[in-house]
Amino acid sequence: MREISLELGSVSSEIKIKKGMLKDAVTEIKKYVEGSKAAIITDENVFSLYGSSLKDSLLSEGIAAEYIVVKPGEQSKSVDTLKKVYSELVSLNITRGDFIIALGGGVVGDLAGFAASTYLRGVEFVQIPTSLLAQIDSSIGGKVAVDLDEGKNLVGSFYHPKLVLIDPELLNTLNDRFIKDGLGEAVKYGCISDIGLFESLMNMKSRELLFNNIEDIIYRCLLIKKETVEADEKDKGLRMTLNFGHTFGHAIEKYFNYEKYSHGEAVSMGMYHITRKSEELGYTEVGTAEKIREALGNLGIEYRMPEMTSKEVENAILLDKKNISGNLNLILLRKIGICFIEKIPVSSLNKFI
Ligand code: GLY
Repeated sequence: MREISLELGSVSSEIKIKKGMLKDAVTEIKKYVEGSKAAIITDENVFSLYGSSLKDSLLSEGIAAEYIVVKPGEQSKSVDTLKKVYSELVSLNITRGDFIIALGGGVVGDLAGFAASTYLRGVEFVQIPTSLLAQIDSSIGGKVAVDLDEGKNLVGSFYHPKLVLIDPELLNTLNDRFIKDGLGEAVKYGCISDIGLFESLMNMKSRELLFNNIEDIIYRCLLIKKETVEADEKDKGLRMTLNFGHTFGHAIEKYFNYEKYSHGEAVSMGMYHITRKSEELGYTEVGTAEKIREALGNLGIEYRMPEMTSKEVENAILLDKKNISGNLNLILLRKIGICFIEKIPVSSLNKFI
């Protein structure tokens, strides 16, 4: 088992990575979380795959558990679903001495985490992420949120799970598209901070090879996340580097209504695009974009920008509410493994498009 402790002064998160971890979840949960009752928040797909086993093992250890099952997909990260979750927590009589388990991908983790951070002014929670993207990124670092009609993640908080249990065997049921969604973010971690990780990802040319090395890949991504979040929990400095590729990535996702491209696909296109431009502008070692193209290509991830005019790209970036303050923080690479933040006036954005 690989273990990482995320230490943030008054709070900490224990992260454990092991194939088959779900079977031992209750043993780990009992070490870190008190409470004799749990609400397990999950979605219909994950519930049908893993639902009964987790509840049964909690019950066998004297922890009463009930499910709150939401619909799969981003539409569940809504205030309406959150309200239903609160009502179910009340009906299950979940008190501050009890806890919540988020069993699912990024949507479930963000929704359950935000419910945990606000219900009764905060109850403890455990993350059991079931997608690669959630296992390497969204379940760690405490960002929890729901969406508004006006945009994604507009209501949220920083609230850390007591424990994150990562079972890479849960990824076996994911189709290749979902795996690539997470791999795009893994390539990002390599680009910003770990050339060894980047080079190893470049060689993962088959699903079998990838799954043979998956624990190591997850661990290396999370070491970077740990260091980054410990240095800058509230996302005012170093943590922004986790957004490499995201300025254009978010614009692509938004322009296509979050339907055509997954987050990881859009970020992959964003990483390649911005690095091509930053190379042309002299910020980045020549040949870096080509390495990103090769790594993404080897993994079967699309790296070419979709059909969008420069104006459409610019508008989509500027519509992202977080960016409207006169300046943009662009995350650029010096070379693979070394990144930096370049603050540019919005008027200079067109140089990067
Ligand atoms: N996913 C980016 C962050 O946690 O800051």
